[in-house]
Amino acid sequence: MSRILTGIQSTNIPHLGNILGAILPAIELSKQPGNNSLLFIADLHSLTTQKDAAQRINSVNSVAATWLAFDFDTEKNMLYRQSRIPEVCELTWYLSCFTPFPMLANAHSFKDKSERLSDVYTGLFTYPVLMAADIILYDAEFVPVGKDQVQHIEITRDIAQKFNHQYNQEIFVLPQAKVDESVMIVPGTDGQKMSKSYNNYINIFLPEKELLKVVKTIVTDATPLEEPKNPDSCNVFKLYSLLADANQITEMRANYVKGGYGYGHAKTALYELILAKFEKPRNRYNELMSNTDLLEKELQIGEAKARKLAQEKLKLVRSVLGF
Ligand code: ADP
Ligand code: TRP
Repeated sequence: MSRILTGIQSTNIPHLGNILGAILPAIELSKQPGNNSLLFIADLHSLTTQKDAAQRINSVNSVAATWLAFDFDTEKNMLYRQSRIPEVCELTWYLSCFTPFPMLANAHSFKDKSERLSDVYTGLFTYPVLMAADIILYDAEFVPVGKDQVQHIEITRDIAQKFNHQYNQEIFVLPQAKVDESVMIVPGTDGQKMSKSYNNYINIFLPEKELLKVVKTIVTDATPLEEPKNPDSCNVFKLYSLLADANQITEMRANYVKGGYGYGHAKTALYELILAKFEKPRNRYNELMSNTDLLEKELQIGEAKARKLAQEKLKLVRSVLGF
């Protein structure tokens, strides 16, 4: 059995890039026989940037509803809020006493973020220690992440190794980052990488009219309707291709090349494809967001299972440390 673990920060509603690049691949991995997946909402990490409580609650619900809307199997696996497993904070303290200061000071993510901020808080600095605790508390073996997080997994391995070495026991499993090179970078409405931070994202859960409005904002060139167009340099075509089947892509390519087919037509086709492709998750998402009791129930089931694992591991850690 392989234990897979990953976290997504609760800073907003997951967008099409998050869904295609992180959520669906993680769900696929969780379905493989023999895999056991722990997926959590990194709400403690979100406090480094998001201070508003109401926004946090809404984002937590929205991330949980997205995992469930895409049929993450909570019987076989675990879905939980990081903050509901208080053991992770205790372990963070212990691990911080095994984390060399320069390792954190030299972390790329800390350096990048701290250079852009006027106030740099300690939480941003110790962010990787909390992330290490998230992972090794549950004996995770594989951690699917984007490239930007690989250094954090290396830091996790270093800390776990130092701890094991100090007590001459395999207390913690050394996790491996799992970076899927084949995962596409989903472009945003402006053609850059789709990201919350660039405000170029498509929220597939929007009501129809609003969704259409967003799709219509996708930037295209000014080739007139009657002229042939190059599908390979068009954002609308790129997004369409990420969702369509082979026949639909061939047909769309032919429309572009033959001329007499405008970007407006292509955008409407993309909008209709999003509605058709995500009909079930859209309905399920909205159902869960308007019935947060159901969401709460699902999360609590995952939290009870995760907490049991966390408590067992922490018992061992405390005894090794003499607490
Ligand atoms: P954002 O850039 O919107 O803040 P995050 O950094 O929170 O997104 O990413 C959460 C997960 O979604 C990561 O695993 C990341 O690799 C994936 N992801 C984010 N944006 C994209 C994108 N445009 N295409 C593919 N995957 C993405
Ligand atoms: N830092 C990750 C991100 O921003 C989120 C995260 C927190 C995480 N703890 C984790 C990811 C543990 C994997 C494992 O994307």
